Amino acid sequence: MRHLLSAGDLSRDEALLVLDTAAELAQVSGRSVKKLPTLRGRTVVNLFYEDSTRTLTSFELAAKRLSADVVNFSAKGSSVSKGESLKDTALTLQAMGADGVVVRHSASGAAHRLAEWVDGAVLNAGDGTHEHPTQALLDVYTMRERLGRLDGLRVAVVGDILHSRVARSNVLLLHTLGAEVTLVAPPTLVPVSVHTWPCSVSYDLDAVLPKSDVVMLLRVQAERMHDAFFPTAREYSRRYGLDGERFARMQDDAIVMHPGPMVRGMEISAEVADSPRSTVNEQVANGVSVRMAVLYLLLGGS
Ligand code: CP
Repeated sequence: MRHLLSAGDLSRDEALLVLDTAAELAQVSGRSVKKLPTLRGRTVVNLFYEDSTRTLTSFELAAKRLSADVVNFSAKGSSVSKGESLKDTALTLQAMGADGVVVRHSASGAAHRLAEWVDGAVLNAGDGTHEHPTQALLDVYTMRERLGRLDGLRVAVVGDILHSRVARSNVLLLHTLGAEVTLVAPPTLVPVSVHTWPCSVSYDLDAVLPKSDVVMLLRVQAERMHDAFFPTAREYSRRYGLDGERFARMQDDAIVMHPGPMVRGMEISAEVADSPRSTVNEQVANGVSVRMAVLYLLLGGS
């Protein structure tokens, strides 16, 4: 594996190698050794054209814990505002010696294009509505850690599937690892291509909830909504929001996940978000180990 562009590119063995490597790194960096020398002398550029809290910070921490030099490049305040293209920006950063480029961009396919232009490894940190493979890796890592298995796990992904790169990456990776995914959304927030995805679709959250081991909630992405959002926010929350009453109807050991950022009171109530069965903060913590594993395997692993 030279790049990480799509969760669908990972074979079962490659995905498990990332998860097992992340578990080892979590043990090592969680003990007394905080920093490992593995990527000393290597340079990682975080090239972010879209806002991020979790992904940017955890890629930076992951690279630093492996002793790499890290450059955080934000399109805001750069020569991008003067019209410089993605290609020229990437080639400029490569000329300064980037060994790995972590890219987030609003255009679906941006990471794939970048991989054609630069010599180093490209890691997709979210491209438009297409994919977010490291998010899916940290999500399945969290599921395996909490529930002890992935094979046969029943996962409901609930929310704005139409605009979600997290949903597509999770469907592809969970399918590879033997889990069964059901996407749950209003018909207006399901992409027309969904029949080609390896999952089932439901419009009825209350029917899916009691049969799910994992309920993953997604934010409604108002910023990508070019047409009117239907149903309204209030109607959406009533039919698809996970509140205390719905939560009580889930299986006793089922977990609630969210990739963040959350809109409390919309897709998830504060009570559910803060419940011990919510893995939101674990997902964030696991993101550092998983991104360390990916950087290690792409830039420094044997
Ligand atoms: N989950 C996720 O990608 O969060 P950020 O947008 O904060 O990186």
